Amino acid sequence: MPSPATQDAVDTPAIEFRGVVKQFGDNTVLDGLDFTVAKGDRVTLIGPSGSGKTTILRLLMTLEESDGGLIFVDGEPYTHEMRGDKRVARSEKQRGLVRRRVGMVFQQFNLFPNMTVLENIIEAPIHVLGWPKAKAVDKAEHLLELVGLSDKRDARPTQLSGGQQQRVAIARACAMEPDIMLLDEVTSALDPELVADVLGVLRNIAETTDITMLIVTHEMQFAREVSNRVLMFDGGKIIEEADPETIFTSPENERTQEFLRAVL
Ligand SMILES: Nc1ncnc2c1ncn2[C@@H]1O[C@H](COP(=O)(O)OP(=O)(O)OP(=O)(O)O)[C@@H](O)[C@H]1O
Ligand SMILES: [Mg+2]
Repeated sequence: MPSPATQDAVDTPAIEFRGVVKQFGDNTVLDGLDFTVAKGDRVTLIGPSGSGKTTILRLLMTLEESDGGLIFVDGEPYTHEMRGDKRVARSEKQRGLVRRRVGMVFQQFNLFPNMTVLENIIEAPIHVLGWPKAKAVDKAEHLLELVGLSDKRDARPTQLSGGQQQRVAIARACAMEPDIMLLDEVTSALDPELVADVLGVLRNIAETTDITMLIVTHEMQFAREVSNRVLMFDGGKIIEEADPETIFTSPENERTQEFLRAVL
C-alpha cells in the first residue's frame, strides 16, 4: 500500500487549468477554462480554427500570459498563485523551474539555424539544466538514434528535409527529459510523404515513455491510436470530451459531429 503522501503524488494531475482567462484586446479567447490532465495521459485537443487550442499550449510554455485563473503543473502553481484572495504573478525564476518540465514542438520547427543538429539538441540541457557537455552529447546521440538521424549529427538544419528537421525538434524537446510534451500540429507543414516518419517517432515516444502529452493534430487516425482522451473545443470551451473511440465513432454534440464530418 502506498502511503497517503505517495498516493497524493500519484493522484496530483500533471496539468490543471482552474478558471483560466485569456484575452487578446477585447477578444476573450478563454473564459474561465477548467480542465485537468492526469499524469501519463495522452490528450488530443480538437476543434475549429480559432477555438483556442494553440493558446492553451502557449500558456503552458509561458509564451502567453493569462489574464485570470490559475494553472498548476504537478500540483504547483505555475505563472500565478493566490496570496490570500489576491492573484499574484510568480517570479520568472519560479516559472522557469516549472517550465523546464514542459517541452513543446510546433508546426514550424524553429531550430537554431546557425547550429548543427547536435548543438541544437545539447544547447538547453547544458545551459538550462547545467549538464556537463559529455552527458548532454551522450543523451543527444541516443535521441538521434531514436529519431533515425544519427548520420545527420553534424549537419545544419538547412541541409535537412522538413520531416528531418521536425524529428530533430522532437529530439531537442526530449533532451530536456520533460514530464509534459506539447505538440501543436507538428506535421501540418510537412509534405505528405514525410508525415509518417514524424508520427512514427511520436508513436514510439508514446509507447516507450510515460510522458504526459497534449496533442493538437489534424491526423485523426494518429489521435485515435495514441491518445486516451479527446477534448473537443469550441469558442475556448470544452464542449465534449471522451475516449477517442467514442468521440470518433459516436460523438454526442452536434458541433463535434459537424466538425468531424468536415475533417475526416
Ligand atoms: N497573438 C495574438 N494576438 C491576437 N489574437 C490572437 C493571438 N493569438 C491568438 N489570437 C486569437 O485567439 C483565438 C484563438 O486562437 P488559437 O491560435 O488559440 O486557435 P487554434 O484553436 O489554435 O486555431 P487553429 O486551429 O487555426 O490553429 C483566435 O481568435 C485568434 O485570432
Ligand atoms: Mg492553432
